[in-house]
Amino acid sequence: MKTGFELIDVLTGYQSAAAVAAACRVGVFDALAAGARTADEVAAVAGLAAGPTGALLAALAELGLVGRDGYALTPLAERLRRGGDLEPLVRKEAFFAAVWTDLDATVRTGAPRLAPWRDRLRDEPEVARNFLAALVVLARETGPDLTALPEFAPGRRVLDVGGALGSYAVPLAAAGADVTLVDLPEVAAWARTCVPPTVRVVEADVLEVAACGAAPGSVDTVLLSHLLHDLTDAQCARVLAEARRALAPGGAVVVVEIPSDAPGTMGPLFDLMMRIETPGKARKVNELEDLLHLSGLPEVREAAYPRPVVVLIGETA
Ligand SMILES: C[S@@+](CC[C@H](N)C(=O)[O-])C[C@H]1O[C@@H](n2cnc3c(N)ncnc32)[C@H](O)[C@@H]1O
Repeated sequence: MKTGFELIDVLTGYQSAAAVAAACRVGVFDALAAGARTADEVAAVAGLAAGPTGALLAALAELGLVGRDGYALTPLAERLRRGGDLEPLVRKEAFFAAVWTDLDATVRTGAPRLAPWRDRLRDEPEVARNFLAALVVLARETGPDLTALPEFAPGRRVLDVGGALGSYAVPLAAAGADVTLVDLPEVAAWARTCVPPTVRVVEADVLEVAACGAAPGSVDTVLLSHLLHDLTDAQCARVLAEARRALAPGGAVVVVEIPSDAPGTMGPLFDLMMRIETPGKARKVNELEDLLHLSGLPEVREAAYPRPVVVLIGETA
């Protein structure tokens, strides 16, 4: 990086994020729902101050979210309206932006800034549920198409461990896999309201139960998507060993993660995010492979998906 505007761009990166989040919250995108408006009209409709609203719309135009000639919604901004499908993502990142202002504390102490996930489910259920709703959006918009893998072929008995609101369980079941989603009780209750009846939902703490809540030897594929990064090494070893125990002969464990050695700043910044948020961390691809080997899966290979996501398949034989 050079000094000058390259440095300034990094230091002011928070501003674009704040502009989009504020526009969502104060209803700028909703005020444009009926068609193009001037900044003054948007301010009047949404009950905002005209000057800053004009500056905000000009910034949104430069970000490509509204047109430049008379402010009009782009298809993407349409989805950022209140109740739009991208709104949970904006709310999730706005929440974390506030937490990241105290990154110093995590770097100094090594402790996450957030309370344990189970406490957050109890104390901040709306924030926690919005977080999981945002993961559904992320899976749909940026996640790997797991239906392309033979491990998830129609009829395969799949256990989606930490399946949340069905980020992957729903598309896998729609493609014909026989999917059981397992998650903590609060999340399982939410999942039952989100997933189709073809997805079985089981409530369990997979750190406490045998075979991740399944009958031993009853599962063809265990999916662990974005779960290991929430866990310590010891917890990963336990969950993977129990996942291995759930497998039928010839079965596989599939791990989906963003590794800490993903290209560019993505990998290390994602690792920092996990350390701020959880007792876990992002791991390098070879560290994930080692965890799978140690759980008794001799064959580990990577499926062909583009980074930053890595999909590892650990086979029983
Ligand atoms: C980061 S989310 C990933 C959700 C989903 N697999 C995805 O890829 O979008 C982690 C999920 O694991 C669940 N989870 C965390 N610890 C768990 C535990 N001990 N037992 C069961 N589920 C757990 C959380 O409730 C959450 O739904």
